[in-house]
Amino acid sequence: MKNKPLMATIALIFCLVFFSLFMEKSKQQNNLAQKPVIKVGILQLVTHEALDQIEKGIEDQLKKESVSGKRIEITLMNAEGDQSKIQTMSRQLTAGGNDIVVGIATPAAQGLAAATKDTPVVMSAITDPVGAKLVKNLEQPEANVTGLSNHVPLKQTLTMIKDLTPYVKKIGILYASNEDNSVSQVRDFTKLAKKQGYQVIPYAVPSTNEVPSTMSIMTGKVDAIFVPQDNTIASAFSSVISASNSAKIPVYSSVDTMVEQGSLGSISQSQYDLGVETAKQVQALIAGRSVSQVPVKIVDTGKPLINKEAAKALGISIPEKYQRSATIVGKK
Ligand code: TRP
Repeated sequence: MKNKPLMATIALIFCLVFFSLFMEKSKQQNNLAQKPVIKVGILQLVTHEALDQIEKGIEDQLKKESVSGKRIEITLMNAEGDQSKIQTMSRQLTAGGNDIVVGIATPAAQGLAAATKDTPVVMSAITDPVGAKLVKNLEQPEANVTGLSNHVPLKQTLTMIKDLTPYVKKIGILYASNEDNSVSQVRDFTKLAKKQGYQVIPYAVPSTNEVPSTMSIMTGKVDAIFVPQDNTIASAFSSVISASNSAKIPVYSSVDTMVEQGSLGSISQSQYDLGVETAKQVQALIAGRSVSQVPVKIVDTGKPLINKEAAKALGISIPEKYQRSATIVGKK
């Protein structure tokens, strides 16, 4: 070998490249890949049908498909819509040795994200993660927060409103002003609806207590009501339906569980499936990927769902187009 120094330099360069690739790879991995038992803490914001379904989807998927034979231990807490409970439970879950924490609905994910900068936080069914200041970079999350975002298909919802109730001119939106998730839906819905010539009136409530009184004002002022994915309204949905039934005002909603509870229609996303998709994000972390390597998943499509009892009570016959394409719920 004549050119020893050259060979040595080449060998050194090889080693350096190899080492830096190795370091880069280990940066992308967390330490969960080595653990046989993974502890997952779940914070559910409040009890309502949709969030219950999401929670069930998460647990089912985590139990159904074990990642590399690992055992999963789940701790579930429910803040029952109480802001101070969100804070204490977020602290308990993040200080309690959980490897990953999951926040179902925006205020729960915000509570967890405020409580830890290290433990990975997986957001579940979050309408607007950027607007809610949970994450800036959806493709490559910059901190310890990733997860699942779902957007209500608002354009299709407006088409449904036009198709089922062509007489509607004024639409009222019922929501809670303190939910970041609703604020962005109200803004986007209003913009789209106005473009189509509707008059839109937002009605914000501070809490579930004001839902019945606000409904009685709204039903005298608007031709139809739109309910976004709002946790406060979802928690008081039976009073929305009883008021709209007696006033014979159609309620369009944003979720399958609300149509099953009596709203006329929605472009729905299965809440259970949103839970399953959330759990898949958790499983990507369990498999060893770091948060920055798990992009926020966005679900933005849905299927038309119509409640035929509600349609009948309003004297609406379901157009042919929906007879074929929509899922129809309700008793015969
Ligand atoms: N998207 C809501 C949020 O960001 C949570 C949510 C999911 C929800 N599904 C729902 C709220 C159904 C009301 C109804 O907080």
